[in-house]
Amino acid sequence: MRMYDLIMKKRNGFALSGDEINYMVKGYTDGTIPDYQMSAMMMAIYFKGMDEKETLALTMAMEKSGDELDLSRIKGIKVDKHSTGGVGDKTSLALAPMAAAAGIPVAKMSGRGLGHTGGTIDKLESFPGFSTDISTEKFVENVNRIGIAIMGQTASLAPADKKLYALRDVTATVDNMSLIASSIMSKKLAAGADAIVLDVKTGSGAFMKREEDAFALAREMVKIGNGAGRKTSAIVSDMDQPLGFAIGNALEVEEAINTLKGNGPDDFLELCLTLGSRMLIAGGRADGEKEARQMLLQTIEEGTALKKLAEFVEAQGGDASAVYDTSLLPRASLQRSLYARTEGFVSHIACDEVGICSLLLGGGRETKESRIDLSVGIVLQKKVGDYVKENECLAVLYANDADKLSAAENRLQKAFQIGQEKLEKKPFIKGIIT
Ligand code: URA
Repeated sequence: MRMYDLIMKKRNGFALSGDEINYMVKGYTDGTIPDYQMSAMMMAIYFKGMDEKETLALTMAMEKSGDELDLSRIKGIKVDKHSTGGVGDKTSLALAPMAAAAGIPVAKMSGRGLGHTGGTIDKLESFPGFSTDISTEKFVENVNRIGIAIMGQTASLAPADKKLYALRDVTATVDNMSLIASSIMSKKLAAGADAIVLDVKTGSGAFMKREEDAFALAREMVKIGNGAGRKTSAIVSDMDQPLGFAIGNALEVEEAINTLKGNGPDDFLELCLTLGSRMLIAGGRADGEKEARQMLLQTIEEGTALKKLAEFVEAQGGDASAVYDTSLLPRASLQRSLYARTEGFVSHIACDEVGICSLLLGGGRETKESRIDLSVGIVLQKKVGDYVKENECLAVLYANDADKLSAAENRLQKAFQIGQEKLEKKPFIKGIIT
């Protein structure tokens, strides 16, 4: 086989066979196929697309390009959850303890944030001492003992995707549905869960700005997951404004804790219940949505999810006292309110701009090497559709640097639009694909 022939075949619009895809992925991973040939292939795929069979073959070739996590020593049906990412997306922090308290073993690999969307690991490091740098043995032991463990994504997991994603990033070939779906799913499959629940975001703060693209990606990933023998479902949820009210690492942890105490924002709680229900059904703990939601709500009412979060933090070396007293979480030294300049209804909050404001305050990474400030961020006081009086507070900014605070404040003011008409609330959950 020659890479040249495969590039030509795809360029001319033909489907690649499973063997050809395996050859290409293996060669690119071990360095025998150079970047320039793979770039040409990615561009050919970008223009000519891949059918369902090719997409599944690419996903599985990337899944098998490195280590695969063996979760067979964990008892029960392991259900993983993945979000395509967004602003204020703290879902795992509340959902993992809720699902674990309802009897689903949560064995999760998570990442750090880059750019204006945060990562679960960064957020969890708001608990002093918490570490995701644990051995596979400890990971398995913790899930069996307390029901949850989260570890950082190792470099040996789907290395083909790691290399290919970096190449696509600099050759304008990221935004192809089959390539995105296979990239995400290769990592999920290698992470070893029996079932996968996906949260595909749509809106101004999401990767998929248009709802129809989010649905297409969700359908593609569900097909891949089921095709690979893992029970997979997806929901499409709104990311046209930040999720909940808090944006920023420790602030999001606090909001997740408050949610487990029964004081969570409506949209965030709804997302946890919708995703959690899919997890409980996939894991055989509930027969239907109604029963699953009831079980999840019970974990909040009875305090079992909060207790589970504390056990999990402690088991990974963290100080869990902040679970019961959130004033112990990292706190910023400066605080400033942003006020409405006119009266009316909030008609739009530019979601990605709010994420960038949090990044400017120091809460996100500009580059992989950046150090982040866990204490800074924004807490919205108003969301889309809310009525606001002139000079009423729209959001509170938290910072440790006065210059950064002023820069973020100016930008945040422009992210809010206020109109005179009351908008009809759009559904937060756009659909479920099973
Ligand atoms: N996230 C991924 O992991 N891969 C993509 O291709 C796009 C988003």
